[in-house]
Amino acid sequence: MSSESAPARSEPPGADPVSTTDRPRSGVTGRTRVAAVIGDPVEHSRSPRILNAAFAATGVDWVFTAFAVADGHAGEAVAAVRALGIAGMSVTMPHKAAVAEHLDDLDPAAATLGAVNCIAWDGERLVGHNTDGEGLVAALHADGLDPRDRSVVVLGAGGAARAAARALVRSGAADVGIWNRTADRARAAAELVGARAIEGPAEGPELAAALASADLLVNATPVGMGASGGIPVPPSLLHPGLYVSELIYSPLVTPLMSAAAEVGARTSNGLGMLVHQAAVAFRLWTGEEPPLEPMRTAAAAG
Ligand SMILES: NC(=O)c1ccc[n+]([C@@H]2O[C@H](COP(=O)([O-])OP(=O)(O)OC[C@H]3O[C@@H](n4cnc5c(N)ncnc54)[C@H](OP(=O)(O)O)[C@@H]3O)[C@@H](O)[C@H]2O)c1
Repeated sequence: MSSESAPARSEPPGADPVSTTDRPRSGVTGRTRVAAVIGDPVEHSRSPRILNAAFAATGVDWVFTAFAVADGHAGEAVAAVRALGIAGMSVTMPHKAAVAEHLDDLDPAAATLGAVNCIAWDGERLVGHNTDGEGLVAALHADGLDPRDRSVVVLGAGGAARAAARALVRSGAADVGIWNRTADRARAAAELVGARAIEGPAEGPELAAALASADLLVNATPVGMGASGGIPVPPSLLHPGLYVSELIYSPLVTPLMSAAAEVGARTSNGLGMLVHQAAVAFRLWTGEEPPLEPMRTAAAAG
């Protein structure tokens, strides 16, 4: 857990403390607090399942739902959080950048990345957080991999890659290289988060050299997602000393993970990051420790 998102108890102004009593098992009462994810599309989101499982397991009297909010309406959604006293908000595409200007403050990760995926109350102030990087690092730790002093290659230069690379740099990784098919974006991402850009094509000597000495490979591209298949790096570059952290969770085993397993490398899919970024949000919102096992089960259920 990085110090930048220490779990301060956060509640909307005037809210009762988290209530774990007096709640009929049958469901929602007038005391029940509402949290939600906004996005478009948002119907596919696993966040309601994961967070409702967490609330149920801890007895925290909250419910979590999803609101489809069209592009361009982030400001109205944040105004609704204030007006309705919504207790916590997750943010997904296309609002991650746009919500920032409507909040009272940003945590260092959200400010650096220019992207918010979690909104929490701090007293009467609404604060934007970015929990993706912290979620990834927590998932790696949970799988027995401490990034400290490791050599890392991150594939991709979008929002997830930037969040991942920033968190890995801050976790004490010895070297974090960012490779992207569009080299300019790799350079910009590397400069933003204090990493280095790996130049050249996927088949070139630069990526081969970086992977040969790497302990950890993070795939933050969508290559391998869904039924489309595809592998983002030549399989010949994979080796047994590599831990392959795939951010994709559908399918649960991607072609990259299969190829890595074939050469004896350890692998994990994106469910760990998904669960752990939700766990960070749960802690920020409720001040309680997140129940990881039920959250994992709910995430895996799809
Ligand atoms: N597990 C989790 O909790 C979690 C959280 C967030 C994201 N993710 C996953 O992480 C991945 C990236 O998400 P994002 O939000 O960062 O997306 P994004 O901002 O759109 O960035 C996508 C990145 O992938 C690259 N890319 C796209 N198609 C490619 C292709 N065919 N070949 C090579 N590179 C390609 C893009 O390169 P260019 O710059 O050249 O366009 C870009 O760098 C997705 O699979 C997403 O589902 C998982």
